[in-house]
Amino acid sequence: MARILGSIMTSHVPAIGGAIARRLQQDPYWKPFFDGFGPVRQWLGEVRPDVVVLFYNDHGLNFFLDKMPTFAVGAAPEYRNADEGWGIPQVPPFRGDEDLSWHLVESLVAAEFDPVVCQEMLVDHAFTLPMALLWPDQQWPVTVVPVCINTVLFPLPSAARCFKLGQTVGRAIEAWPRDANVLVLGTGGLSHQLEGERAGHINKAFDLKFIDSLTADPTWATQYSNKELVREVGTQGIELLNWLAARGALSGRVSELHRNYHIPISNTAAGLLLLENRR
Ligand code: DHB
Ligand code: FE
Repeated sequence: MARILGSIMTSHVPAIGGAIARRLQQDPYWKPFFDGFGPVRQWLGEVRPDVVVLFYNDHGLNFFLDKMPTFAVGAAPEYRNADEGWGIPQVPPFRGDEDLSWHLVESLVAAEFDPVVCQEMLVDHAFTLPMALLWPDQQWPVTVVPVCINTVLFPLPSAARCFKLGQTVGRAIEAWPRDANVLVLGTGGLSHQLEGERAGHINKAFDLKFIDSLTADPTWATQYSNKELVREVGTQGIELLNWLAARGALSGRVSELHRNYHIPISNTAAGLLLLENRR
């Protein structure tokens, strides 16, 4: 049976791609952000995941406003990146894990989650940049399964629903009859708002409370409606739903191994959290 090693949650700001391309990791603006990933990479070197299940939100590359699934699961042999208009270099394709994809899809449908199943799927910066932060040589040593949550176009799934999605995915991974080490990623957030009168909105106090909650009190954020979450963390800060889904997948003894929190990267409070999952 497969094992869930833990979860890594991180922000996914497009400017990170520009900083990587221009090798700005030691630049004073970027250093406090990139330095956060050293301990995470060291842990990855020790635990060596085989598969990544990645909760993220698409920003218009694969799904546009005319057709927006609430939940979508990739079931493709390969996932490619493409130009989103940010001017950042594209990354090499990712090898899909079709067997796990279909196992997750069947488990989700059996549990009355009915995701859109994508046998072709482009993955945007919310998928590619966290992967490039974890494996800077971009020689991806893992297969992947993308799980896309709509955090873009209202109505969005509730925090409670996203947590339950993660729980269902977690149980399915653990029932997958493959001797594999699985890592769960959640990308987006933390607080940011890119448009309107509150553009630039950041809420450090809420972000830190949210990060704290994920170890011992992971349903804490589910007390809030999406309207309340947007009020706290901004219209794009609601991407924290992806962190919540990733946390939902961890059912063992969960401990925090590392975190980083840095304001701002572009317009965003950049968060990073590594949670270990012990059976
Ligand atoms: C920014 C943050 C995001 O989450 C995103 O998807 C795009 C841009 C930003 O802070 O610039
Ligand atoms: Fe985003």
